[in-house]
Amino acid sequence: MAPDARPIGVIGIGWVGLVTAVCFAEMGHSVVAMDIDAKKVRGLSRGRVPIHEPGIDERLERNRERLTFTTEMEDVLEFARLLFCCVDTPPTYSGDADLSRVQAVVSQLPPDGEYALVMKSTVPSGTGRAIRRDAPGIAYVSCPEFLKEGTAVQDFLHPDRVVIGADSGAEWAADEVEALYRPLGGEIVRTDVASAEMIKLAANAFLATKISFINEIANVCEEVGADVTEVARGMGLDQRIGPAFLRAGAGYGGSCFPKDVSALKQLAGNTGYHFQLLTAVIEVNELQKRRIIGKLQKHLGALAGKTIALLGLAFKPDTDDMREASSLVLAARLQGEGAKVRGYDPVAREAAGKLLPSVELTESAADALEGADAAVIVTEWPEFAELDWTSLRERMAKPVVVDGRNFLDGRALSKAGFEYEGIGLANGGAQAGATPPAESAEASPR
Ligand code: UDX
Repeated sequence: MAPDARPIGVIGIGWVGLVTAVCFAEMGHSVVAMDIDAKKVRGLSRGRVPIHEPGIDERLERNRERLTFTTEMEDVLEFARLLFCCVDTPPTYSGDADLSRVQAVVSQLPPDGEYALVMKSTVPSGTGRAIRRDAPGIAYVSCPEFLKEGTAVQDFLHPDRVVIGADSGAEWAADEVEALYRPLGGEIVRTDVASAEMIKLAANAFLATKISFINEIANVCEEVGADVTEVARGMGLDQRIGPAFLRAGAGYGGSCFPKDVSALKQLAGNTGYHFQLLTAVIEVNELQKRRIIGKLQKHLGALAGKTIALLGLAFKPDTDDMREASSLVLAARLQGEGAKVRGYDPVAREAAGKLLPSVELTESAADALEGADAAVIVTEWPEFAELDWTSLRERMAKPVVVDGRNFLDGRALSKAGFEYEGIGLANGGAQAGATPPAESAEASPR
């Protein structure tokens, strides 16, 4: 693979920026990556990875000589002319995306026609056009990222598709971006900037809709004695539907879905269009995070004074990311009911400590379960399936397991004397003959 002659610039070394920088280096390119966080930059220069993401550490180590980390924009501008913008665009109180960090980047670029800004950050449709209007001397390319945390490196190196949006005048930059990604083999979608921006928002909103849909089906399943894992399996075999993202659970979280769904809803609202479907998707997701409370009350009665162990705090396995995690809502609601909350996560302990100061964080799942009245599986970390639940039952005050991800073998737990209840499972999942939905089959012990 012929490395690009000029280094690639990466601005913002968060999840997306770090994965982008390290993976381009892995492909043989030189990369200059910049972030305003001096501590992070110092750590990275010494080979320290600030996030938990499989496959990053060894690639950073292998490609140290191709990677330069800096806090100075001048360093990036001196060497690179393709600048991948990976700064964060968090939601504001209104639900609009906060573009101040993107604007700060744009304001530092010389408008002399030499540089191209390649937008990886998720921005509302129309942002690219506004930047082109305000800074016509910068070639603008929209190249949204579709990485999933936990599998981000694999997603980068083996993309389903790469979307590249450019308007007239920026084709040279789009061609260069295409040449960078072509060796990875995914389908290249060349389009205009506004459509590229919309593809990203629409894709994430659709996936979130799929999750809220299956969660509502799960809730109806509970009422009619059906089993949502069976329903999802049967639905997912229809090629028009597909098996992915049909896992019912305690709601979606993370840095993308909640933000992008509300950004798209807000974007539509700003034009005077009320996106009714997304309003419901958001509401269903919020309610879903709370349904665990009702299940606990069913088994324990009032929760005041009870000790509840939350197993898994990150928003999904294989990450230490706590953004919009269901555990945050659950812990707050449980404490609101007067319960004592313990939490355990294999990697998110440090991140969780900052956000859940009044939750007792333990070193192991067993410690969290010691004397607990109930365990809640919030995140489906594989190690929870490998626990010796039979001996743990003796250590709990009450043998109640509410499985917010339908991850454990409910029948085995019931046989071991637990009161087990999943999400949308016939008889709570204790006696059902359910099998996992196809997408999660490899990770699930059910
Ligand atoms: C997502 C998109 O998948 C990715 O394309 C985009 O770039 C960023 O947002 P990510 O946030 O890393 O990626 O996580 P993802 O694996 O998609 O899961 C998001 C949330 O949905 C998690 O909380 C997960 O537990 C939940 N989920 C996912 C379900 O509840 N059910 C499912 O069937 C799938």
